[in-house]
Amino acid sequence: MNKLLSIENVSLSYHTMQGEIEALKKIDFDVFSGEFIAIIGPSGCGKTSILSIIAGLLKPSGGKVLLNGEEILSPTEMIGYMLQKDQLFPWRTVEANAMLPLEIHGAKKDLEKRKNVQQLLKKYGLWEFRRSYPSELSGGMRQRVALIRTLACSPEILLLDEPFSALDYQTRLAVCDDVYAIIKNEKKTAVLVTHDISEAIALADRIIVLTKRPSKILNLHEIDTDKALTPLQRRESKGFSSWFERLWRELNYEK
Ligand SMILES: Nc1ncnc2c1ncn2[C@@H]1O[C@H](COP(=O)(O)OP(=O)(O)OP(=O)(O)O)[C@@H](O)[C@H]1O
Ligand SMILES: [Mg+2]
Repeated sequence: MNKLLSIENVSLSYHTMQGEIEALKKIDFDVFSGEFIAIIGPSGCGKTSILSIIAGLLKPSGGKVLLNGEEILSPTEMIGYMLQKDQLFPWRTVEANAMLPLEIHGAKKDLEKRKNVQQLLKKYGLWEFRRSYPSELSGGMRQRVALIRTLACSPEILLLDEPFSALDYQTRLAVCDDVYAIIKNEKKTAVLVTHDISEAIALADRIIVLTKRPSKILNLHEIDTDKALTPLQRRESKGFSSWFERLWRELNYEK
């Protein structure tokens, strides 16, 4: 498999009025093309910071991130970032929200890219709602719009920060299946941050477990559940509960 991203010894400290906060300590892992990676760890350990560094929005205090062998120094169209809240603009329609990255990257009039977004809206059941506003949609539909917006500039890598956390449990399971299907259909590589252990097992090929802050990698697990199954089916498959117990123990008893 082709190595797409290398996170090399990344450290990060925040400088605040109260002093220095050491958030990340020598985080080191690779992401291969087509892979689905989940990052789990205690609240406030630095999960979002890792995604922001990969996205080129935050500069690490030490180490570097390489994309296809080249250091990432600023945001690139190759990487789409779906933030911790869906962050749709309430005054923009579904279509205008989904088109936003084209405006940011100066490609508002790029017909091919516009068509790509329109096709995604059609393919994933949002075309009829293209003139609706976010407040008129269900939580799950809003997440789909946010994902399509992340896909607008055809990135290869998707960074997803707790994409389902605002949804109730039932919706969450369904949207999780939807989002997974979209990512696989579109053949994207994904790095998902979540605090939900079962979500990580249901979605990921590999799971990175982080320690408390300052965060280090406690463990990196290869998940051996059947990849042909949907996330929902994986939750019911053999081996799922033993993975859950193992990861739960790691997160709760880490030294
Ligand atoms: N802009 C900032 N300035 C100062 N400290 C920050 C800043 N952003 C984050 N931090 C601190 O760095 C640590 C890691 O933050 P981060 O948001 O990456 O954690 P997280 O694992 O995503 O948290 P959560 O589980 O709440 O989403 C936290 O202790 C946080 O308080
Ligand atoms: Mg976070």
